[in-house]
This record gives sequence, C-alpha cells and structure tokens, in this order.
Amino acid sequence: MSAISGSRTLHRLVYASEISILEPDLEHEVGGIIQASMRNNRARAITGLLLVHAGWFAQALEGPAEPVMQTYRRILEDPRHKGAKVLSAGPAPSREFGDWNMCARRMSDADDAILDALALRDAFRPDALSASAALRLLKAVRGIQARRTFDPQRPLEKP
Ligand SMILES: Cc1cc2nc3c(=O)[nH]c(=O)nc-3n(C[C@H](O)[C@H](O)[C@H](O)COP(=O)(O)O)c2cc1C
Repeated sequence: MSAISGSRTLHRLVYASEISILEPDLEHEVGGIIQASMRNNRARAITGLLLVHAGWFAQALEGPAEPVMQTYRRILEDPRHKGAKVLSAGPAPSREFGDWNMCARRMSDADDAILDALALRDAFRPDALSASAALRLLKAVRGIQARRTFDPQRPLEKP
C-alpha cells in the first residue's frame, strides 16, 4: 500500500463501462487487472478504486494529469469492457482514494443498503450518473472497503 498525498497537479477521472467478461471468469480477470494496476499505477503515482457491480465497472483514477489520461487511454483499449463513458475529469483538490494504487470492490448483498441510500439499487446504471453522484457512489464504496478488509489491496472480495 502506498499512501500518496495530493499535489498541485492532481487530477481525477471517473468513468463507467460495461463489463465484457463472462461471470465465471470475472474474479480471475479482475484479479489480473488489479495486479497490473497496482504495478503500473504505483510507478505513475496514480491511486483509485474500481467498483464491479451488476455488469458494470465504475472507476476513479487520480494522480498527475498526464499519467491519468495516458492510463485511461490504455484502459479504453482493453477488450474486457466496452462503452466507457467519462463522468468527470479535471483538477481535484485532494486524493479521495489515496490508500490504494488500485483496489476492486464487488458489492455484496450486505452492501445493498449503500445502494438503497444512494437510490441506485434498481437498474444500476453508473453510466447515467452525474459527476457528483458517481463520486458519492465510489466514496461510499471506499468506506465499506476500508471498514471490511484488513488488507485493502486484496484483489476482489466475493459477494
Ligand atoms: C475496468 C478496467 C480498469 C483498469 N484499470 C487499470 C489501471 O488503473 N491501471 C492500469 O495500469 N491498468 C488498468 N487496466 C488494465 C489495462 O487495460 C491493461 O491491461 C494494463 O494496463 C496492461 O498492463 P501491462 O502492460 O503492465 O500488463 C484496467 C482494465 C480494465 C478493464
């Protein structure tokens, strides 16, 4: 784990995309994504969170602007998802996900209360969220992740 403080050039990009991975392969593939992300993101001072839920990815990437945009462009070419839509991108005052170079969270049944509170349980469509609603969702997920897992870098928690 590497906690990295913000800098003057800090940017955050949040996007949502549709998962193209078949369910039986999902855990393994997301594990691979996180392994590559931890390695690459650490080298680029990028931190973030990847939410995996109901056929959708939602991810926050934060760090210096150019590495964040380069990383996003690389991610866009990944066939494991499609239809990526940027929900927000721009300067950020501080890191919201500074504890993780990247970690993934799969929402469990017990997390439904979070989705209820955000009015997102039915027809979960993160690609339709406003910038502020998307960040609120990922910050709520950050909260569960921080409370529940002893090792937050653990690739994927089963529902
Ligand atoms: C939803 C999603 C999120 C990803 N997030 C990251 C990321 O934050 N950082 C990263 O380096 N790769 C990420 N990847 C993986 C990249 O698309 C690519 O496979 C990887 O960067 C290749 O790294 P390598 O050349 O070191 O193997 C993501 C892929 C997907 C599908």
